[in-house]
Amino acid sequence: METLTIDKPTQTADFLPLNGTDYVEFYVGNAKQAAYYYKAAFGFQDLAYAGPETGIRDRASYVLQQGKIRLVLTTPLTSGHPIAEHIKKHGDGVKILALSVNDAYDAFKQTTQRGARVYMEPQTLTDEHGEVRMSGIMLYGETVHLFVERKNYNGPFLPGYQPKESHHHPTDTGLLYIDHCVGNVGWHKMNEWVNFYEDIMGFRNILTFDDKMISTEYSALMSKVMSNGNGFVKFPINEPAEGKKKSQIEEYLEFYEGEGVQHLALATQDIVKTVTDLQSRGIEFLTVPTTYYDELIDRVGHIDEDLEPLKKLGILVDRDDEGYLLQIFTKPVEDRPTLFFEIIQRKGAKSFGAGNFKALFEAIEREQESRGNL
Ligand code: FE2
Repeated sequence: METLTIDKPTQTADFLPLNGTDYVEFYVGNAKQAAYYYKAAFGFQDLAYAGPETGIRDRASYVLQQGKIRLVLTTPLTSGHPIAEHIKKHGDGVKILALSVNDAYDAFKQTTQRGARVYMEPQTLTDEHGEVRMSGIMLYGETVHLFVERKNYNGPFLPGYQPKESHHHPTDTGLLYIDHCVGNVGWHKMNEWVNFYEDIMGFRNILTFDDKMISTEYSALMSKVMSNGNGFVKFPINEPAEGKKKSQIEEYLEFYEGEGVQHLALATQDIVKTVTDLQSRGIEFLTVPTTYYDELIDRVGHIDEDLEPLKKLGILVDRDDEGYLLQIFTKPVEDRPTLFFEIIQRKGAKSFGAGNFKALFEAIEREQESRGNL
């Protein structure tokens, strides 16, 4: 399968230098139980906590860490709280994609003067561990980007949070960092958000998948991958496309009741070990028919891994000019068919597995059909 590569040279200096993803915050109905799920099933560890016991009266937040990945799970404590409205509408989902910057005030200035809508005016939070400077702008749907500057801070997470003690320390599953984070936007909205990332954030469109490449009778969608200047942060954007059946993106938009984060791709250096581990802890993955593996080596050429474990686990492989990648997708991790995770191991490849879209979308279609949403 071909991918159209658009690789425009960067003509100006990076006006929004990003060090990577700082954290991802989920708004959930029960943060205590969600934290247990991400610890037990995905192998995250407690890092910090904020709630009534630490002087925060209206919500509870659990911060978990594995490798460089930090997740925050937040729940409101009363029905009238704005976070409760968010959960009522969207179910559990990602609210905040926080980006690490060297200057949160300048990040705010650079993006808002280019037209970003304000979510959080720049502010400085302090406690005995130092200061964190933060600001924020609106993204698609009710999702937001926060800019976090923590070079003068040595506390566990942010002011207001305290270290979390626990007797529950599940072993990690080898997850290292967030490779990319995908957003689903509404009909004909993809280019609006591509322009947002280009004009307001200084990103580049590095890959495009149009509906001819990834549709026919399968879940039709179009996708563009946006990357920041140094390539540390990548946000693919999907929009639905007309097909014979209901697009998986449409199903998401219907059940999330709007635009939002579709999946987080978490990187590992040993996908067979990671997926074996995740599966044994109860994580459910999409599976492809074993015939996928009959022509795999013809399609992707030599790979270092044995085929049998990949086949047994349902791990997909794709190749581009620079190498290959191995990937697998979980089923949605909540009852609404919205957010899911990808586990990815890159062996040189910088692409996103376009050669797997057909097999993958057929698998998603089977799931949609079982939910009566096709
Ligand atoms: Fe992905």
